[in-house]
Amino acid sequence: MAIRKVGVLGCGLMGAGIAEVAAKAGFDVVVREVDRVLIEKGLGRIRGSLDKAVEKGKLEAAARDAALERLAGTVDFTDLADCDLVIEAIVENLEEKKRVYAAIDAVLGEGAILASNTSSLTITQLAMSSRRPERFVGLHFFNPVPVMKLVEIVRTLLTDERVLAEVTELCRALGKTPVACRDNSGFIVNRLLVPYLLDAVRAFEEGVGSIEDIDEGMKLGCGYPMGPFTLIDFVGLDTTYSIANIMFEEYREKRFAPPPLLKQMVQAGRYGRKSGRGFYDYAKR
Ligand code: CAA
Ligand code: NAD
Repeated sequence: MAIRKVGVLGCGLMGAGIAEVAAKAGFDVVVREVDRVLIEKGLGRIRGSLDKAVEKGKLEAAARDAALERLAGTVDFTDLADCDLVIEAIVENLEEKKRVYAAIDAVLGEGAILASNTSSLTITQLAMSSRRPERFVGLHFFNPVPVMKLVEIVRTLLTDERVLAEVTELCRALGKTPVACRDNSGFIVNRLLVPYLLDAVRAFEEGVGSIEDIDEGMKLGCGYPMGPFTLIDFVGLDTTYSIANIMFEEYREKRFAPPPLLKQMVQAGRYGRKSGRGFYDYAKR
């Protein structure tokens, strides 16, 4: 396989999960954060997840230790210079993403592949803001990455067929099931999931039911593993709000418009599980 060393940009919810599965699958991994505190926090999250897998008997202690040996954290882009593939998983913000592509393009080899884990930005605009549009692809993982089997592989009009073949092989090596998507904002899953989540917030705003009852209704009535409010808290209200804004701007359809309550909660710092409070209070739980 052509890909041996994987770089990951961002070690938040998704970057940590991607780095973990890649290291577990035998790849050398280097993950970059903006500062030392955040990289230590992200690496701590990965260690915690691997330890839990060992405790549950899903992973041998030796396999955990080997995965951790293959994993390095950094704040320096030059430490990713010899990566064959770099997966960007930073905040859902076009300008921030453009900034990191400029920095990583400056150090990465010509043959390397750049991928984005974006939820809602089009891969075409991201690819065109990099120096390697033919070697740029969408690799959309799902949260929690160690558990969710799907990766959406998103091609643009410019993507090289060999790049698609290489990342498809990588996804299989990570134990994931790839599906091919055209480059539409939200791809397949978020195109369908995001209007549902936003509609749940609107239903609550309209007094259809309480947060708990709407969640219980969708769990027990439809067999979903989580109700919509638990899922928004899990994804992050800040990320959900960014996704909704991007998709609304793209499609100009009300179903993608962020409801006022979601906006206010983000403004109030209620980001969900990651901040300790969203629709639910995790300090109390
Ligand atoms: N990291 C690693 N493993 C985890 C985990 C995490 N964060 N959370 C749960 N797990 C594992 C557990 O260890 C457990 O494994 P075993 O059964 O082998 O022990 C398994 O997942 C089930 O966990 P639990 O029994 O603790 O809890 P659960 O049964 O409630 O499952 C869940 C947890 C898998 C998260 C499940 O609730 C679920 O599937 N929820 C929906 C998740 C979902 O919809 N994700 C997509 C979000 S949208 C997205 O990602 C796209 C986007 O762009 C926003
Ligand atoms: P997050 O807020 O948990 O983590 C983002 C991380 O990126 C933060 O730790 C931040 O410090 C870091 N970051 C910001 N600028 C950076 C830079 N220049 N270099 C390196 N790191 C930088 O967000 P997340 O949930 O992990 O989302 C990351 C990406 O994955 C977004 O594009 C999001 O849309 C997408 N995504 C999210 C989910 C989800 O359920 N949360 C699922 C699939 C895809």
